Amino acid sequence: MEGYKSFLFFLVSALVLGFTLVIFVLVWVLDYSDGLAWDGGNAEFNWHPVLIITGFIFIEGIAIIVYRLPWTWKCSKLLMKCIHAGLHLTATTLVVVALVAVFEYHNAKHIPNLYSLHSWVGLTVVILFVLQLFVSIIVYLLPITPVSIRAAFMSIHVYGGLLLFGCIMGTALMGLTEKLIFSLRKPAYSSFPPEGIFVNTLGLLIIVFGGLILWIATRPGWKRPPEHVEKDQHPLGSEVDDVSTTDYSKNKSDVELNSEARKRNLTLDEAGQRSTM
Ligand code: HEM
Ligand code: HEM
Repeated sequence: MEGYKSFLFFLVSALVLGFTLVIFVLVWVLDYSDGLAWDGGNAEFNWHPVLIITGFIFIEGIAIIVYRLPWTWKCSKLLMKCIHAGLHLTATTLVVVALVAVFEYHNAKHIPNLYSLHSWVGLTVVILFVLQLFVSIIVYLLPITPVSIRAAFMSIHVYGGLLLFGCIMGTALMGLTEKLIFSLRKPAYSSFPPEGIFVNTLGLLIIVFGGLILWIATRPGWKRPPEHVEKDQHPLGSEVDDVSTTDYSKNKSDVELNSEARKRNLTLDEAGQRSTM
């Protein structure tokens, strides 16, 4: 892998920040708020930020970069797909419980549902996320989709995934702001109370965490190397998704030349210098 040390730096920073986010949200609800319970009150609402930040931000961030871990490149693509899909599925499950918590809380307190911009964007993001999960399982996991469709769908899959992750962070920031404005009365949010400063810091950390994940997920040199398959072997359900086929009859020097060319292109890509071909 190119730039292994810098990859490690970004990965360790993302992991440390991810755990910090979870600790921050727990400290917030346990120390500053009414804790956690399933009783229709504030303590039930508190599951909403806790599960969203743990599932939709931390676990989802890890799901996005899981293919980039060089230690996993020896593992089969199928295993990595199952881990990638499993992490997304775990995130989705936690988010669904987070939504049940906030809807139940609203209903118990007779607060209208879905009136805010936060809830509109949030619900749209969750619906699109579940759609992406569903379509991706059919396209990449079930052995019924031809390789050509898998390859054609890949750029939409990656763009959609990164866009959704960005929207998740934006929605979470809206949610944090709303909650502080609603709940901080005496002393008011505008008077810089410790809770306000603490949660503002949590919001900043969410942005830094998201930035690290997006950086790792968009470095061409840190991408999992493509699988190689024989040109005439295109079984339905092949593990190949996003690469054109490679002819194994090529002699070694051809392969080496290709790999040299790929490295050069990646370097130019990273420098933003390669013209579109
Ligand atoms: C991407 C993550 C999030 C999603 C998808 C999301 C989604 C939602 C949805 C759909 C509702 C509407 C519930 C209803 O109308 O009964 C809601 C309400 C709410 N959420 Fe979130 N939420 C997210 C993150 C957060 C975070 C981190 C907080 C911080 C505390 C938060 C605070 C709130 C508050 C205060 C409400 C009630 C007021 C309202 O309906 O806007 N949300 N959320
Ligand atoms: C909502 C759920 C999902 C999101 C947000 C998502 C997001 C992403 C993102 C951002 C990437 C780019 C990662 C990279 O370049 O290293 C990616 C790659 C990929 N995803 Fe997903 N994904 C989801 C679900 C799935 C599912 C269920 C599958 C089925 C197995 C899947 C299969 C793949 C494959 C095969 C790649 C290409 C990995 C490579 O570069 O070798 N994804 N996904």
